[in-house]
Amino acid sequence: QAPRDLAIGSAVWAQQHLVGYDAAAPTEFQEVLAGQFSSLTPENDMKWDAVHPAPDVYDFTSADALIAFAKANHQQVRGHTLLWHSQNPAWVTAASATWTCDDARAVLEDHIRTVVGHFKGEIYEWDVANEIFQDEWDNGGVKLRTTANPFLKACAADPVGLLADAFRWAHEADPDAVLFLNDYNAEGINAKTDAYYALAQQLLAAGAPLGGFGAQGHLSLLYGFDTSIQANFERFAALGLKVAVTEADVRIPLQAGETGPTPEQVAVQAERYDAMLQACLNVTACSSFTVWGFSDAYSWVPGVFPGEGWATISDEEFTPKPAFDALLGSL
Ligand code: XIL
Repeated sequence: QAPRDLAIGSAVWAQQHLVGYDAAAPTEFQEVLAGQFSSLTPENDMKWDAVHPAPDVYDFTSADALIAFAKANHQQVRGHTLLWHSQNPAWVTAASATWTCDDARAVLEDHIRTVVGHFKGEIYEWDVANEIFQDEWDNGGVKLRTTANPFLKACAADPVGLLADAFRWAHEADPDAVLFLNDYNAEGINAKTDAYYALAQQLLAAGAPLGGFGAQGHLSLLYGFDTSIQANFERFAALGLKVAVTEADVRIPLQAGETGPTPEQVAVQAERYDAMLQACLNVTACSSFTVWGFSDAYSWVPGVFPGEGWATISDEEFTPKPAFDALLGSL
């Protein structure tokens, strides 16, 4: 496999790790982040609750710190995220109780134009809409999250119209950014990605500037790995879209009484990471491969998935695991 121009990224929580960055005296964490990755995704710093804490207040402090770090180290930035059911500020949750669709549209339009406009020219890919479909096993099956997502809820009569406009507003604010749909359990061909494939066709038919489809890549050794990821990427690429692995990590179930994963688990973890990277390398339209943090010291996994951990490519001391070596070997 010949190397090609593929952005290799990590998520980083700028508020924790990059505010106060001094290029002359980087922390060890910052050295690894600058040395190993060509792309950064703000783990939390561009989410609604971070940048838009009150109706008339925007705060870009930690997001700007990430942009400055990326610039200093010649890295690209993936924007994340503009429309999501999670990590919305309390004022959105409260106000949305009485929103009409016009109310929701006005709030979303202001947010997207302001946030995307603030970072105009600094961001190569934006996750415009994140996790907008529920899973097959959720109550009601695969369908747009018109209950959990306050914007889709207010516009439940025409959610696709709202989504199309969200992409249009983002595109007007920064015509150079490639605009993505992004979700988990969206690696292989399944009911959820079938729904995304249909939605992508609808959005494109409506003339919306959809530019990419992102598979988050949050895997777990508790479940099998669907090897149809390359075929899935190929069908989105055939629509003229970019594709990306946006949030890769591979969780390992903790065994009772054990203090670390077994060599077998670590080897399977490496295979899964590499399988996602291979799918990306094999599809020309795949533009970026991002891991959701590079060290177990700062992974979101133990806090959110009780009984699972060790999900990243290096341990708590930043020592590379077999997964790290496997990815490097494929690049
Ligand atoms: C996670 C962050 O890693 C955590 O720090 C935060 O507490 C919750 O969100 N899918 C996404 C990401 O799109 O934004 C989520 O990030 C992980 C799942």
